[in-house]
Order: sequence, then C-alpha cells, then structure tokens
Amino acid sequence: MDRIRIIGGQKLNGVIPVSGAKNAALPLMIASLLTRETLTLDNVPRLNDVGLLIRILTNHGVDHMIAGKRPGDRPIAGQTIDFNAKNIVDTTAPYELVSRMRASFWVLAPIVARMGEAKVSLPGGCAIGTRPVDYLLMAMERLGAKIEIENGYAVATAPKGLRGGEITFPKVTVGGTHTALMGAATAHGSTLIRNAACEPEVRDLADCLNKMGAKIRGAGTPEIEIEGVGSLHGARHTVLPDRIEAGTYAMCAAMAGGDVLLDGVDAGLLQAGLDAIESAGAKVTSERDGVRITRNGSGLAPVDVTTAPFPGFPTDLQAQFMALMTRADGVSRITETIFENRFMHVQELARLGAHIRLDGETAIVDGVKALKGAPVMATDLRASVSLVIAALAAEGETTVRRVYHLDRGFEQLEQKLRACGAQVERISEGG
Ligand code: EPU
Repeated sequence: MDRIRIIGGQKLNGVIPVSGAKNAALPLMIASLLTRETLTLDNVPRLNDVGLLIRILTNHGVDHMIAGKRPGDRPIAGQTIDFNAKNIVDTTAPYELVSRMRASFWVLAPIVARMGEAKVSLPGGCAIGTRPVDYLLMAMERLGAKIEIENGYAVATAPKGLRGGEITFPKVTVGGTHTALMGAATAHGSTLIRNAACEPEVRDLADCLNKMGAKIRGAGTPEIEIEGVGSLHGARHTVLPDRIEAGTYAMCAAMAGGDVLLDGVDAGLLQAGLDAIESAGAKVTSERDGVRITRNGSGLAPVDVTTAPFPGFPTDLQAQFMALMTRADGVSRITETIFENRFMHVQELARLGAHIRLDGETAIVDGVKALKGAPVMATDLRASVSLVIAALAAEGETTVRRVYHLDRGFEQLEQKLRACGAQVERISEGG
C-alpha cells in the first residue's frame, strides 16, 4: 500500500490544472446506459472511482474505448472515453461492486428505464455516515417502478416502462436528483422534481441528457421539469471542472502561502468556499483562465462555516477547511449538517498538533502557532486530503497512509503540488 510523504514549510507558487469533476463524471458515465448509441465524454479524470465504474458498467454490457493522447493536449488533460450500451446484458449490480462505490447504485434508474427491471445491491454504510437510499427508491416509485428489498438487493420493476410523476424530496439529495433525472428522461409523460439538488454536477448531467435528446428544464434550480421522450441518442459532452479539487488546492495555497493559479475553474462553481478562504486572509482573484489564490506574509483569521447544499459551503470541503483553521489565529466553529459522521479527520489532525473539540455536529478549532509532522492515516477521500493540507504547513515530515482513499478522487495530487514547489512524494510499499 502506498504512502505519501510530505515535508512541510514550502510555499506554493505556480499553476495547478483543475481536472474534470469526479462527481460529474460518475453520473454522466452512468447516463450512457440510457441509449443504444455512443456517448462520448471528454475531460474524464483518471481516478480509481472512474476505473471502478467502468468495471461496473462493463458488467452490464457497456463497451468503452479510451482515446489516446493527442498532440497539443494539456500536460494533465482528462481522457476522452466513448461509452456504448447497445446491449444491456445483465440487469444486476452485485454487492461486491456496489459496496465499493456508492454512486454505482445510481445505475438502477437507467437500467429500469431501458430494461423494465433492475436488481442493484444496497450499498451499505460508509465512513462518513449511514447514507441511506430511501429517497432514491421513493423517486423510482413515484415514476411507477415497483420496489422490493430482497436479500440486500433493491429489485425494481416497471414492465410497462416508467411514467412521469411528481417527486418531492424531503431533503436535498444529489444522488436522488440524478436518479430522478435519469428515470424521468425517457418515462411516459412529464415529471416535476421539487426540492431538487442545485449542485453544478446535476446541471451538468441535465445538459448532457438534453444533448442526448431529453427535454429537461430548470436543472440547477430547486424545481426541475422533465418531459419524457421515447428514447435518447448518442452525444458528446465535456465533464465540468472539479470544484472540490479546485477548492482543495485553494486551501493548500492558503495554508502554505504563495501564489497559485487554479487553471480552468470558474469562481462561480465554488463561491462559498472561496469566500471562506478570503475571510481567512488569502487573496482570491478571478482571472480569465481560472482563479488565483495568494497569501504572502499575512496570518490566517478564524472563520466559522456551516456546510449546506449548493450554493452553500460544500460538505466535501469541510475537512480541508478544518485543516486550514488549525493554524488560524483564534477559534473557529465548523458545523457539518449533511453527513452525521464526517469528522473522522479530527483525531488524525490532532496527531499533527491541532486543537479540535467536537460538540455534536460542530467542531471547535482552536488555532495553534505550529503543527508538527507525524504519521497519520487517511479515513476517507476528503479527510485524507485534509491531512495533506495540514502537512504542507507542519514542521518536519508527515506520512499519510492508506492513500488509496486519495486516489479515488484526486488525479496526480503529488505531481500537481510538486510542480508548485511542495515537497511531496509517493512511497510505494517496500520503497
Ligand atoms: N439521504 C437520505 N436518503 C437518501 C439519500 C440521501 O437520507 O435516499 C441523505 C444523506 O444521508 C445525506 C443527505 O441526504 O445526509 C445528502 O446526501 P446526497 O444524496 O446529496 O449525497 P450523495 O448523492 O450520496 C453526493 C456526492 C458526495 C457529496 C454529497 C453531498 C457523488 C458521487 N457523491 O453524494 O461526495 O458529499 O453528494 O454534496 O456525487 C465525495 O465526493 O467525497 C462525496 C462524498
């Protein structure tokens, strides 16, 4: 198992190219199940989660072809992948695969839409909370599917096809909204989704579905209308930039100091995160090619944040912001409202010398003058990168173990940081 070794104390200066968004790429890949024709996705990030989803889709009969690098491509350019689901050969998504990546549960909607039935393993719990799928199943029922839970599997049937309906989510859910969009796109009749997730990844999926012939209006707002169409066709779509990756590197730059351009991201995708970084004392400038983060000399001020659905402060940046606040000059309060157990990083940050106390869903962070390097362990994707951020400012050496969590969602992390002057290296087991 690989480890990442970081020697703290270097400023970051340079350009970091922002990859395609993992959380957009995954539902877009799943949408390929909705058509017999080819869906071509550009800017797909090279991530373990993408590789795993390709395996899952292959299991259902989806062919894929990865285009080679072309001259003139950016040094870290995303991949172009063709997906073709001409024949869905298996409507079951087994436990062994779904339990490794929750988002694969989302295959349920397109497979029922195409085949009239699907059997998908319930994903089970995960490190950040219980994460049920009840709203996703409710959405499918509202679209006319019959759902039964059998031996740990959700079995959905709609022999006469899905039909439009009204879906009101009791709580904003990204996966629920993706499911409703994919189920409703080819249903008979119209669908109205209320309290839909407004995350940019939802809009990206809707844009792609519309290119495939769907009739979706209002994606990116809490009310989405879908007029079902008979079938979808092939299309070409570019995965939107990863706002969470960009926000993470913004926090790296704010933590280490220096001047970093996040190339290819639009500030509007991560305004709440950038506002918090700016309040903490870094300078944030929108430029033609991306967003520039600068901090030279000034200290870090404490800032309180509360996670919320988009456009609020993203839960996927909570751990990273907490790492930043460990060095603030004073006390900050970080409240997590989306997932009930997303504080696994607190104990590991404490190993680096952070002072953090938990009070229910709030972490109270008392900034310290210095962090000190130590061996630490990654517990989930975003928690693991928060340790990298803390390590960039810690005195001496930090090693982060279990980096397979990082590889699920950060493309070429060491290379991107090293190119800006950080001392970061990957050590393979035995190395
Ligand atoms: N929820 C339910 N029932 C459901 C579905 C959700 O109670 O049927 C609850 C969840 O337990 C949670 C809240 O609703 O408390 C929101 O969950 P949501 O459905 O929005 O999360 P998700 O779709 O499973 C996606 C991202 C997560 C991100 C959340 C919130 C992907 C692949 N995953 O998950 O990303 O944190 O939205 O923005 O898009 C990550 O990338 O590290 C990650 C965890």
